[in-house]
Amino acid sequence: MAIERVTVIGAGDMGHGIAELFAVNGFQVTLVDKFPQALEKAQARISSSLDKLVEKGRVTKEQAEDAKSKLVYSADLGSGVSAADLVVEAVPESVDLKKGVLREASASAPSGAIFASNTSNIRISDLAEATDRPQRVVGMHFFNPPMVMKLVEVTPGTKTDPAVAQEVFDLCGKLGRTPVRVLKDSPGFIVNRINAADTLFFCLLLDREVASPSEVDTFARGQGLPMGPYELLDFVGVDVGADSLAYFASALSAEYGKGTTFAKMVKEGRLGKKTGRGFYDWSKGKAEIPKADPTDKVSIMDIFALEINESVKLIEEGVATPDDIEKGVVLGMNRPFGPISVARDLSSAEVEAKLEELSAKYECGVFAPARSIAEGRLRDAIEGRIHPTQGREAPVAESNAAPSTVAQRAIRLERLDGGVAKIVIDRPRLNLINGDVLDGLDGILTDLWNDREIRAIIVTGEGTVFSAGFEMTKFVSSAAGMMEFARKGERTMRRLSEIPKLTIAVLKGYALGGGLELALSCDLRLATEDAELRFPELTRGLVPAWSGTQRLGRLVGLSRASAMILACESVTGSRAHEMGLVNRLLLGGDPDGQAVRYAKELASSEAPVAVMLAKKLLNKGAEVPMDVGLEMEEMAAGVLFGTEDLKEGISAFLGKRKPEFKGK
Ligand SMILES: NC(=O)c1ccc[n+]([C@@H]2O[C@H](COP(=O)([O-])OP(=O)(O)OC[C@H]3O[C@@H](n4cnc5c(N)ncnc54)[C@H](O)[C@@H]3O)[C@@H](O)[C@H]2O)c1
Repeated sequence: MAIERVTVIGAGDMGHGIAELFAVNGFQVTLVDKFPQALEKAQARISSSLDKLVEKGRVTKEQAEDAKSKLVYSADLGSGVSAADLVVEAVPESVDLKKGVLREASASAPSGAIFASNTSNIRISDLAEATDRPQRVVGMHFFNPPMVMKLVEVTPGTKTDPAVAQEVFDLCGKLGRTPVRVLKDSPGFIVNRINAADTLFFCLLLDREVASPSEVDTFARGQGLPMGPYELLDFVGVDVGADSLAYFASALSAEYGKGTTFAKMVKEGRLGKKTGRGFYDWSKGKAEIPKADPTDKVSIMDIFALEINESVKLIEEGVATPDDIEKGVVLGMNRPFGPISVARDLSSAEVEAKLEELSAKYECGVFAPARSIAEGRLRDAIEGRIHPTQGREAPVAESNAAPSTVAQRAIRLERLDGGVAKIVIDRPRLNLINGDVLDGLDGILTDLWNDREIRAIIVTGEGTVFSAGFEMTKFVSSAAGMMEFARKGERTMRRLSEIPKLTIAVLKGYALGGGLELALSCDLRLATEDAELRFPELTRGLVPAWSGTQRLGRLVGLSRASAMILACESVTGSRAHEMGLVNRLLLGGDPDGQAVRYAKELASSEAPVAVMLAKKLLNKGAEVPMDVGLEMEEMAAGVLFGTEDLKEGISAFLGKRKPEFKGK
């Protein structure tokens, strides 16, 4: 049966918009509300919205008139639903109220009519119970305002006929919306489940007096958000946040009941804009936000970690696929990117550490790492390689192959003889550095850090190119994402610069941007004559942010660094050698082979502990006043005095033989 006649029950913020959307798309619509004033207001809102659409040229005058003529307003639910093919319920978010309305509609609607609920959070199966047709009840969650927001979450209840869910899914397309499938009926579906963790976090922040609303909102606006979380809650209604936490506490986990501030505000009538006062004073129609410094007690990573955590739980529970979660957050929360693309650039360990910190600090189980994150399988989860419902692994072959190939494809470690290791960036296009390369490099550095066999490390790229820089992913397409990506890269570069071994970069082909920064973080740089070294960042609206602005000047002086960074001057390997940026030229082919021979030579002739201390003295010494550096130098000499390597060095020198250092 084709859906032609639609009845929307509840003519409030959502109901009037849903009714308008159906009417504009050619459906015959009856809008029902218990209160005649609500119907009058809805009619006026729809009329004014249609006029605006005409003004903006989005619909013609005829289409607007046609939509108006397709709308009927009724205060009588029974007659309002009597001819409906589809009933969309949009009354306030109360289980009992919604059940009552659906029960009443059951009595009068045609037996074949589909019932859809626009509930934000409530399980569809719980609402379906109240009807005479649970197999024809489905969640159809529009976002506010329905005429603008493209997302609709379509949720079947446990008894819903899959054909009915599919029909509603297809219907969304006819309305010009983008539907996502909620695969399992679960409180808050996708977007509001993710949102609930944020809401709880912002409630607990106030409970614990970690920061004030204005400090947090100032911070959030500084991150590029149009409104901070508390201003937004005031705007939507503090009661909406409090009710949703209460519902999650009853339906999902008692841990959601840990926050108290929002419920207290509701008791005091501080609901935000609608009562004139919430976190802020709204008596003049907009929030009076006191001037405040942005808080440093909250980081964007807190929010990313919480949202990634909820996303992973949704995947583990089989509620949604990673793609639909990403789509849902982007379209439903108006974000430039979603938690799945953020997670792609982070390691399990990083997210787990943040979540452990938050769950301990706020004593809240909701923030504890999801199982896959705790097991170090974040990537498997977001790439769909875990079985839903238990969060267990996918078929063995797949899960065995996946985690290592990701890292292997991006970067690999080769242990050579003679105390040398080779780190090779291996990406399909110009060895661009992405999150996988950084994660892989970080892991390799951890592996090598205390490995006494390895004394020198070569950093190179597969093939003829070192690395043409970092790869722009969706994750770095916003200020907040960029900041995190910069931090992650800078931290990895710093670890490379601090590893207590000799590090040698092999510059060939291109060493651009992030690739050049990787080379600057090594102790020595070897290059082919024609290698191209360049910082293109400023021409793309960026700055070198993986320590390039700091390291280059220290290596070649401010004037030359300015030429390369501010004037984007490209230098060849030869020129870089003249400048002192490159320590040796690799002439006559096989740059990697030459570098390995050089590394072996150094590894076999230098005392490892002395290398470690000399590195510290050079790098840290450059950051402290000279007298402090000199003190450090004296102490290093003292430390070396007791080493076996010093004795071996002196004895080999006197005996005119090659020393055999043990690193002790
Ligand atoms: N506002 C949002 O941002 C938003 C977004 C997505 C989903 N939702 C969900 O949509 C639903 C409606 O929310 P809203 O913001 O439009 O609420 P609202 O309060 O603006 O509107 C609800 C309407 O329902 C009417 N109503 C109340 N009892 C009724 C009854 N027994 N019979 C008929 N009409 C009745 C009210 O008069 C009112 O006009 C809720 O389930 C909410 O969770 C809201």
